[in-house]
Amino acid sequence: VQSLKGKDLLTWFDYSSIEVKQLLGLATNLKSLAKSNVHPPLLAGKTVGLIFEKHSTRTRISFEVGINQLGGHAMYMHARDLQIGRGEPISDTGKVLSGYMDGIMIRAHSHKMVEELADAANIPVINGLTDLYHPCQALADVLTIHEVKGYLPGLKLAYVGDGNNVANSLLIACAHLGIEVSIATPKGFEIDENILTKVQKLAVSNGTNIMTTNDPIVAVKDADIIYTDVWTSMGQEEETAARLQAFKGYQINEDLVMHAKSDYLFLHCLPAHREEEVATSIIDGPNSAVFEQAENRLHAQKAILASILS
Ligand code: CP
Ligand code: NVA
Repeated sequence: VQSLKGKDLLTWFDYSSIEVKQLLGLATNLKSLAKSNVHPPLLAGKTVGLIFEKHSTRTRISFEVGINQLGGHAMYMHARDLQIGRGEPISDTGKVLSGYMDGIMIRAHSHKMVEELADAANIPVINGLTDLYHPCQALADVLTIHEVKGYLPGLKLAYVGDGNNVANSLLIACAHLGIEVSIATPKGFEIDENILTKVQKLAVSNGTNIMTTNDPIVAVKDADIIYTDVWTSMGQEEETAARLQAFKGYQINEDLVMHAKSDYLFLHCLPAHREEEVATSIIDGPNSAVFEQAENRLHAQKAILASILS
């Protein structure tokens, strides 16, 4: 077992495939312990700051609860209340917080800003969503897939929708774990080219591949898992009308899922817009595990926290 102590988590590109598997195993173990009401105090005496520039239900609550369960102390801070809201450099903030606490989770608009924070801080920084990545979500996603399907390599996941932060991290996690991915986005909403090149290389090194298309039916064909996210992410609200137009035909509905395997698993990071990116009958139907997936944020993040902070 490799020690991850002191490491940041900004993107799964910074982790080896073995390390991702190790975290997944720990998440599984911590979950089964928690189900028997056993909460190892792996963060006893530690304080973790949670900085938010955007809204959150799952990330904030699962981090607070997870840190408490591990015996640590979580401190919620909204960016607008901190001096960064009045222009104090994020690097100064990182240096100051390093003198008080043991780790920082941050949800920010700009991934670059989170990189600056991580560079300046000498305590681990965890990405709780940026414009580019959402790594904590992706670990919960693969934990859910593993629980439902019982294995990972050789499965086929279809992602249909926006080539965004959630998609980027999901692709990297799948590439680490040997899950084949087929991704359908409208023209103009594809996965960033640099990220795609890098993740395809990683997938090939793990014996799998990532296919891109603009056709949802092609992506979903024979899929074991179907995944989507909102069409308009936080901060993109003024693009809503244009996006509704561009994503027409990319809804996960009864007609589309007919092309997947009959026992397909439906996942969505939530929050969802029913009847927009997904039909109500699908997200609330028998193949959906979105609430197990949301719960798994807690278990996945406990594994991350325990590994890098204790
Ligand atoms: N999936 C997710 O990150 O949810 P929140 O925005 O509620 O944290
Ligand atoms: N892509 C979405 C994910 C929310 C958890 C957003 O960035 O708003």
